[in-house]
Amino acid sequence: MPLARLDISRLRNLTHVRFEPSPQVNIIVGENGSGKTSVLEAIYLLSFGRSFRSHKHKTYIQYEQPECVVFAQVEQGAQHLPVGIKRSRDGAVEVRIQGRAAQSAVELAECLPVQLINPDAFRLLEGSPKIRRQFVDWGVFHFDEQFINGWRGWQKALKQRNSLLRRGKISANLLAAFDQELIRLGEQVNHARKAYVAALTPHFEAVLQQLAPNLHVQLGFFQGWDAQRTLSEAIEHSYQRDIDVGYTNTGPQRADLRVKTPTGDALDTLSRGQQKLVVSALKIAQGQLLIERGRQLVFLIDDLPAELDANHRRKLCRLLESLASQIFITSVGPDSMDFTWSDTTDVRHFSMNEGELSLKRTGEFNE
Ligand SMILES: Nc1ncnc2c1ncn2[C@@H]1O[C@H](COP(=O)(O)OP(=O)(O)OP(=O)(O)O)[C@@H](O)[C@H]1O
Ligand SMILES: [Mg+2]
Repeated sequence: MPLARLDISRLRNLTHVRFEPSPQVNIIVGENGSGKTSVLEAIYLLSFGRSFRSHKHKTYIQYEQPECVVFAQVEQGAQHLPVGIKRSRDGAVEVRIQGRAAQSAVELAECLPVQLINPDAFRLLEGSPKIRRQFVDWGVFHFDEQFINGWRGWQKALKQRNSLLRRGKISANLLAAFDQELIRLGEQVNHARKAYVAALTPHFEAVLQQLAPNLHVQLGFFQGWDAQRTLSEAIEHSYQRDIDVGYTNTGPQRADLRVKTPTGDALDTLSRGQQKLVVSALKIAQGQLLIERGRQLVFLIDDLPAELDANHRRKLCRLLESLASQIFITSVGPDSMDFTWSDTTDVRHFSMNEGELSLKRTGEFNE
């Protein structure tokens, strides 16, 4: 599934960048503001249909240009699958997969799973539970094919119930009539999330052990309501409160992935570098789980050296190399990318200069 060719047009300072990445390791080095992160942003856009830097498409479309386009040839066995996205200033989005218009961004995510580790990674620990739920749900989406339909149905049922509650003056009896579907699908979503976190945990522990053996971090999953109760019981129990406040208080919409150290919350006790290692371990573990199930994915590591000392940089590179996935790494200086890659790894070094990308040298690739 690696990207065999990438074409980026009119995205930030990348007027037209066209290159053939290595199916394994790609290292992009360049000065601040040269356009390195923008290359990763383009790949991310192709997978998620949105940027990781801004929700406003106008910020990444090149100044004074009507649209930006990212196009790739995705390797699938012996074939190449053409995939493209065009985002226009007027808000239009056009996604094409193999020459036909895609139904939704979900199709993109399915054919090109992308995992990002960047200097904002600590937000996964620091941010609201929503960010961690999205992290878990991304994993479940690729782990359990049934998940997306159940999740969509549950979201719809939840919205309907909340809109009823907002309108007020609603009796417990009337509310109960809307709850059957909400409970059935909510339990389904919860079940899938729990199974996923259970599968993810040993991978996370093993990866963290390699990256930072002295760190003791535990994952826990809060399902969104009292674990002693069924969802039906929890909803019944909070009827009056839901009516009073005008929305649904309890359920999978409150779920969270808890990341704990023996002394408390990971966020309160870990240094910035340690937080980056924990988040990297979470994301690599998520990738491993996919790889284990015969899927492939692309890893984007923006500013790899940030917050990491030489020893941890090398450990992270060694781990990334062991994934046998396509990886794009950016760095401001070549000195901080001093890891010695294996002779059998196809490593391509690119330099980025004011939006122009050039291949520096290709790593030796010995059979
Ligand atoms: N909409 C836009 N149109 C044109 N240029 C833009 C637009 N938005 C941002 N830029 C410029 O494009 C460049 C984007 O750089 P990018 O963030 O990719 O750099 P970088 O190489 O990752 O830098 P750093 O090392 O500081 O992270 C910057 O010079 C920025 O000023
Ligand atoms: Mg950058």
